[in-house]
Amino acid sequence: MCGIIGVACGRGAFSKPLGSIIKEALKQLEYRGYDSVGYAVIGESLILRKAAGKLDDVAGKLNFEGVDGFVGMGHTRWATHGSPNDINAHPHSDCTGRIVVAHNGIVQNYLELKEWLIKKGHIFRSETDTEVIPHLIEELKSRGMTTLDALRRTVKTLRGTFAILVLDLDEPNKIFFARYVSPLIIGVGEGVNFIASDIPAFLKHTNRVLVLKDGELGYVSQKTVYVEHVERGVVDVSRRIRIIDWTPSMAMKGGYPHFMLKEIHEQPMALRTTINGFDESLDKAAEMIMEANNVFIAACGTSYHAALVGEYALAKLAGRLAHPFIASEYTKYLNAIDENDLLIAVSQSGETIDTLMAVRKFKGRGARVIAVSNVVDSAIPRDSDLPIYTKAGPEIGVAATKTFTTQVAVLLELSYRLGLKTGRLTKSEYLDLHRELTMVPKVVSSVIRRYEGHCKELGRRLKPITSMYYLSRGVGVPVAMEGALKLKEISYIHAEAYPAGESKHGPIALIERGFPTMFLAFRDEYMEAILGNVMEMKARGAYTIGLVPEDSSKLIEKLDYPLKMPYLTPYAASIVYVVPLQLIAYYASVERGLDPDKPRNLAKTVTVE
Ligand code: AGP
Repeated sequence: MCGIIGVACGRGAFSKPLGSIIKEALKQLEYRGYDSVGYAVIGESLILRKAAGKLDDVAGKLNFEGVDGFVGMGHTRWATHGSPNDINAHPHSDCTGRIVVAHNGIVQNYLELKEWLIKKGHIFRSETDTEVIPHLIEELKSRGMTTLDALRRTVKTLRGTFAILVLDLDEPNKIFFARYVSPLIIGVGEGVNFIASDIPAFLKHTNRVLVLKDGELGYVSQKTVYVEHVERGVVDVSRRIRIIDWTPSMAMKGGYPHFMLKEIHEQPMALRTTINGFDESLDKAAEMIMEANNVFIAACGTSYHAALVGEYALAKLAGRLAHPFIASEYTKYLNAIDENDLLIAVSQSGETIDTLMAVRKFKGRGARVIAVSNVVDSAIPRDSDLPIYTKAGPEIGVAATKTFTTQVAVLLELSYRLGLKTGRLTKSEYLDLHRELTMVPKVVSSVIRRYEGHCKELGRRLKPITSMYYLSRGVGVPVAMEGALKLKEISYIHAEAYPAGESKHGPIALIERGFPTMFLAFRDEYMEAILGNVMEMKARGAYTIGLVPEDSSKLIEKLDYPLKMPYLTPYAASIVYVVPLQLIAYYASVERGLDPDKPRNLAKTVTVE
């Protein structure tokens, strides 16, 4: 969480002040946290400004446009240690104000370091863990070290996770950096270099990127990129620079009021690109699954829901049992893991710390790892034996949409190919399923066209409610869970999903007149049972909404608000049905006057445990 950006540009590289460039970059990073904003720029002197609040609200107060210089950094915060106020905002400085630091991550041993530094006479101003870093560098420099030496020693002293940027008035042309777990990427430009938490921050200026690895540190200046490994010395990075094919407009709103709405509408394209990009890595993955003794799937949040769809398809179509689990709970399986096991890690960002830890711990036990991610070269795919990429393009809205549907597409195709390899599917069954998947982008387009208005109306109807259920059976259950998560996270309406059969074992106690209940019915063996569940809810006064197959006349008749879905297998339907649920959540949020792109207390990428 937290977004950081550094720009080393010399004088006159841009037609506007460096402060404006930093502000634009922070705008692209705000999805990572928006509790406070700050920047530091070195020009005639070092200027440091910061304040609590979102970028748009505090930009005037911080006067970005009025500040120029030749190196600078910015930070947008998701608070961990210390409340989101002006003082705890980054960057943080040492006692002299000559060294400033922006940080993403957590310094776990900050209390002992702080105590030690206070004894040495250092004065702390904030409650943050980060503030120990500039003081440590100051302390080490006072013993004769250069800034780089002091940073190296600091990195060895810190425990936890970090992406750090440092400005030091003693070396005013450089931005020093260090990375461990939290992402940090260098953008290599012409006479200007960038360093940021994510690529969209500098994509407008350069598409040449260098993803830093754990344990790397160094500095960038206007014309230099120097990287070393904390233990192994200088690193030759010339062959690690990649060209990114995302365009800057992909990371902008393109006329939509919110990124989330744009990203919902981008799903046909994201799915098409992902499906067209399916390659032999999926066959390789299927073989790894066949060779494995036990198969596990680790993920968080929305990615976990995609994992559950994958689990269902693997079992139903390929006869392969997999154990999906919420990544932060990885320890429960560790004692049972060995080199014959396989972990599939699903993470759109590829940086979620819980999933990354599960990957590392499973690898530590000898297990092999397949990663499904949307971000090339991010930590999780990098740590895996086989990375498989969704091709959804950058997703900025905090609520995952197009990355979910593309993850599901990958996991479905993987299950189809495994089914074919294990003989559970005939060639023609495989081809039918695959062909249907290639039609899904078109179906998603038509569902959006046909139902966006209805979803808007439903969003309006849901505005005053406080609680809602999402019920389904079979592969619909993870889709229902995803619908409930979307509503909860961006509209703050309490929403829970259950297997419809489970609703009678407790949840039904909450049903009273008007209680909204969303049913998802697929063309599968559960249709009759779902009809029964609708009747039970209606008998208790629930307001029943449903996404149901267009020819399920009995269900359509009974529901208060049916939306008729096209003829699909439950597998393809698990992608298509989620789209109206995303739209309903989006419009409920907008109706409530909220910002769906920046839900309170959340950040796009969770890089703290
Ligand atoms: C999704 O809408 C959420 N904001 C969140 O649950 C997210 O899916 C989760 O943090 C996992 O992220 P990842 O896919 O980047 O690992």
